Amino acid sequence: MKKKTIIIGIETSCDETAVSILRDNGKNRPKILSNVVSSQFKVHKKFGGVVPDLAARAHLEKIDIMTKKALKISKIKLKEIDAVAATAGPGLIVCLSVGLNFAKALSISLKKPFIAVNHLEGHALSPKLNFNIKYPYLLFLISGGHTQYLTIKKLGEYKRLGTTIDDALGEAFDKTAKLLNLGYPGGPKIEELARKGNENRFVLPKPILNRGGSNLSFAGLKTAILRVKEFIKTDKDKNDLAASFQKTVLDILYKKTKKAIEQHLELYPKNRTLVVAGGVAANKQIRIILKKLCQDEKFKIYFPDLKLCTDNAAMIALAGLERYKKKKFDKHNFEANPRWQLDNKAKFLKGAGVKI
Ligand code: KG4
Ligand code: ZN
Repeated sequence: MKKKTIIIGIETSCDETAVSILRDNGKNRPKILSNVVSSQFKVHKKFGGVVPDLAARAHLEKIDIMTKKALKISKIKLKEIDAVAATAGPGLIVCLSVGLNFAKALSISLKKPFIAVNHLEGHALSPKLNFNIKYPYLLFLISGGHTQYLTIKKLGEYKRLGTTIDDALGEAFDKTAKLLNLGYPGGPKIEELARKGNENRFVLPKPILNRGGSNLSFAGLKTAILRVKEFIKTDKDKNDLAASFQKTVLDILYKKTKKAIEQHLELYPKNRTLVVAGGVAANKQIRIILKKLCQDEKFKIYFPDLKLCTDNAAMIALAGLERYKKKKFDKHNFEANPRWQLDNKAKFLKGAGVKI
């Protein structure tokens, strides 16, 4: 019997050192033999956000240990690996470089192909680890670093339909939580407080709600919260603000996702599949509102396992496997690219003065 392809995936783009070993399974979904993640949550907690230099140092300390752990769990020997895939961007350059250099060295020593993976491609393909989803589909990626609607046409062909023009959604949750002294990461805390609050108490802005297609903006929300902060004295005030913030986000997501669905249908009138990935997809109210929208629009909706929709290396190994099958290998001088876009025809839409 022919040996099934085995790929090792390495991910160090932000604050998670992750390694995974994946085995091809022919026509079926690939098998995850191991998928280990070392979170730097404790390193960054007291700073209320990720500190790049500390993150890079933690990756350096952990990358070797995590690789050994992934090999041990999967019961795979280094010599059985067919290719080495690593995230080369987007992300923090000092962090990306750690995983990328490690992967290049491993590929050279094993004399096996090296594959540079776009982190967003990993997220884009990740639902295929959980579900038998066929191309094309609509992806809504909502994490601490990214907020994008993408039509996933096929491997390597992505059309960005909309993106945040300032903060990522997770970042908006985290910044709001920080203003309310709720700790980091703030998303789960805001969701918890919102359950007890009055969502109609504070009226917060919904920037570019009725223009800009499915592009999104969250920075104005943070500024508005900063303005009402002086009125936040009691626990009830905090709960009400958390609830009002979350309600505003839900209204924005309902409307913008509806728009993205329209845009997706223009490309693929017969395809009615939405996949939601990224850490913010853990939010139950967001799940409920998107499920409701998909019911109205007669779309199928998928939420991959949280372990696979937050940052992980199984999705990097999967992108590596799909590229390996198409012999899409990279040279060892491939450089880390902190702003690597999935859709290179899409305009860069961040910062003051951008036209949407
Ligand atoms: O995908 P992810 O784990 O990591 C990266 O962005 O790299 O996403 C983390 C983000 C954080 O901003 C966190 O606050 C947010 O996901 N998050 C949530 C919830 N759980 C995590 N946001 C809203 N509600 C939640 N329940
Ligand atoms: Zn990510």
